[in-house]
Amino acid sequence: MIGCSGFLIRNGFLRCAGQLFTVPEVMNIPRHIAIIMDGNGRWAEQRRLPRIFGHQQGVESVRRVVRECLALGVSHLTLYAFSSENWGRPADEVAALMELLARFLAQELDSLMREEIRLRVIGDITLLPSAVRRILDQTIQRSSGNGRLVLTLALSYGARDEILRAVRRLVHQAVEGSLTLDEIDETHFAANLDTAGLPDPDLLIRTSGEMRVSNFLLWQLAYAEFFFSEVLWPDFSAEELRKAIEDFGARQRRFGLTARQDSAET
Ligand code: IPE
Ligand code: IPE
Ligand code: MG
Repeated sequence: MIGCSGFLIRNGFLRCAGQLFTVPEVMNIPRHIAIIMDGNGRWAEQRRLPRIFGHQQGVESVRRVVRECLALGVSHLTLYAFSSENWGRPADEVAALMELLARFLAQELDSLMREEIRLRVIGDITLLPSAVRRILDQTIQRSSGNGRLVLTLALSYGARDEILRAVRRLVHQAVEGSLTLDEIDETHFAANLDTAGLPDPDLLIRTSGEMRVSNFLLWQLAYAEFFFSEVLWPDFSAEELRKAIEDFGARQRRFGLTARQDSAET
């Protein structure tokens, strides 16, 4: 149960003047939420468990958050699951994370289809173990017709690497003559990023109290609203997600304009 502009919301419904509304009608729901899922290791260490237990528990939070996004009508969810820098972690942790990922994908295929979720991936997936790539490719292909929620996993992802790969592609097109320099504008550049076709995130959430972007979506976050949660990712609940969305709903996004211009346009 949470409060919203003086009203009470219960079980996804809001009663106001005798009428029942669903929450998405009364909350300002971001179209695209991106999450830096952080704090798995600390969650496990606090319990004197190996770090992988935190990652395993983190998978449950992924399921919870996907369920809540479906319930609220969020159409795009992007999860930072493994960064290009995370390859530098101890080999046993990297191997355990890759295994966990392959298992998660295998387990989720049915529910992705049932819930009409389309899976996408961003990052340099050529670096992933072939078993993971195989199941990833299969899942992406099988779910490609789904349209209720686009779930994008950032795997082996670094924004600087993504930007450099886009630059290389553009330079290649320019050198071979299929692209002139004047044609390189923001739209064309964005179309060469891994996120091509996705709207920019409206809301970025980072868990575990860290306040940095850690090489995530540097281009795409230009006008995102940031929400930092103290909660470690394995403890991240539907309630905490709603708190972030409520906070988002109370912000005024000005996109470089003055507050007066902004309210005149809405
Ligand atoms: C986030 O949790 C998951 C990955 C980066 C794969 P961490 O593993 O970074 O957890 P902490 O930050 O060490 O607690
Ligand atoms: C960012 O978390 C990457 C993911 C959540 C996958 P890290 O834990 O790797 O980031 P830093 O090292 O604290 O910046
Ligand atoms: Mg971390």
